[in-house]
Amino acid sequence: MTDATNDMTGVIEADRAHIWHHLIQHKQFETNDPRIIVEGKGIKVWDAKGKEHIDGVSGGVWTVNGGYGRESIAEAVYDQLVKLNYFAGSAGSIPGSNFAKRLIEKMPGMTRVYYSNSGSEANEKVYKMVRQIAHRHHGGKKYKILYRDRDYHGTTITALSSAGQPQRAMQYGPFTPGFVEVPHCLEYRKQWDVENYGERAADAIEEVILREGPDTVGAIVLEPVTAGGGVIVPPAGYWERVGEICRKYNVLLHIDEVVCGVGRTGVWFGYQNYGVKPDFVTMAKGVASGYAAIACTVTTEAIFEQFKDDPSDPMSYFRDISTFGGCTAGPAAALENMRIIEDEGLLENTIVMGERLRANLRALQDKHRVIGDVRGAGLFCGAELVADRGTKEPADEKKVTAVVADCMAQGVIIGMTNRSLIGLNNTLCFSPALIATADNIDHITDAVDRALIKVFN
Ligand SMILES: Cc1ncc(COP(=O)(O)O)c(C=O)c1O
Repeated sequence: MTDATNDMTGVIEADRAHIWHHLIQHKQFETNDPRIIVEGKGIKVWDAKGKEHIDGVSGGVWTVNGGYGRESIAEAVYDQLVKLNYFAGSAGSIPGSNFAKRLIEKMPGMTRVYYSNSGSEANEKVYKMVRQIAHRHHGGKKYKILYRDRDYHGTTITALSSAGQPQRAMQYGPFTPGFVEVPHCLEYRKQWDVENYGERAADAIEEVILREGPDTVGAIVLEPVTAGGGVIVPPAGYWERVGEICRKYNVLLHIDEVVCGVGRTGVWFGYQNYGVKPDFVTMAKGVASGYAAIACTVTTEAIFEQFKDDPSDPMSYFRDISTFGGCTAGPAAALENMRIIEDEGLLENTIVMGERLRANLRALQDKHRVIGDVRGAGLFCGAELVADRGTKEPADEKKVTAVVADCMAQGVIIGMTNRSLIGLNNTLCFSPALIATADNIDHITDAVDRALIKVFN
């Protein structure tokens, strides 16, 4: 630790006095110290008290995919910052151009990258593009955007207008009009008693399109694997049917890869597990593993062309800017992050370690009746805790929180669905860095085993 961080009492008191932490009730900090993370290396982090933790959630919110302490990323960012730190995105930059080329090579069918600053913002860019296409090409009619129950697309008021997580959105309305919900596809909590559940859940989207009127629906936004809504992997047949429905009704498909993007599920993008063809793909968190802020809205030439077809009309192009979308640190870090994933074989590691993580969790499921369901793809897993396996009554949220806290006390950071779905914040979440080893995975699940014994027996 450096000298500056040795005065931890001062840091903690300044934090207690002045920091408004994200997503947390602060009354507790009147008696307990706020948590301060001081240092990270590989998959481990150290807090202000010097305690070591294995980070099973990549910086809390599935972000630090390449692991902590990557000097080559820091150097790439340093070199770029001293050359040119910033210029507005109406001009190009060397790392912006180079990263876009590398990214597009991984995304057959896509051609254009629009830089911004956060996942929420990347999604809002799509919403604006869809609305502008509706105005310019559909007489203003195809303005509605569908989103799915249990999915999340960001924190701003319009991103929250597309939140399938009522507990996140509650008390922040009124919301932006024109967003319509479709049912979730989690088979563990069935809404239809059928064999081909995936297709049936996708057919529910068609029902909503027909109810709303196909000439009013411009797009649908979906997470490839729902993250904070409970780590939901769509059942077989779902994505194929979604693709068919979108084509049938000329509804643009927007896939939100903010969590899955850049390796989390063992392929570059979650949608590539399913062979579906998106019109828009958004990404943020893992793109530069948190070494710099960067978000991308990626689209096709067919979409892009619609914004340049009439240069004589001053309103015909995408009249949007993101100031910090012009920061060069983001693409410089993202380029090096992508090189690391390739050179270290991290996609392959993600598949192998993800299988180990699920196998370990399934072994725990055999031992602990409280684990109702284990699901996931790559290093992105959830274990849903239930009070009763037969009725699937969710486990008491306080007990789920106690499991997370007990793991933390053991030096293992795991997550849980958090203030997302009333009565259903009962899924433990795991998303270690893509560098995780077999020992790391076993260490995480051993801690969960001990915590479940303690909390539920
Ligand atoms: C699927 C998904 N989309 C969008 C976002 C919003 O990203 P940001 O917090 O960078 O705005 C998140 C954040 O958790 C997310 O999980």
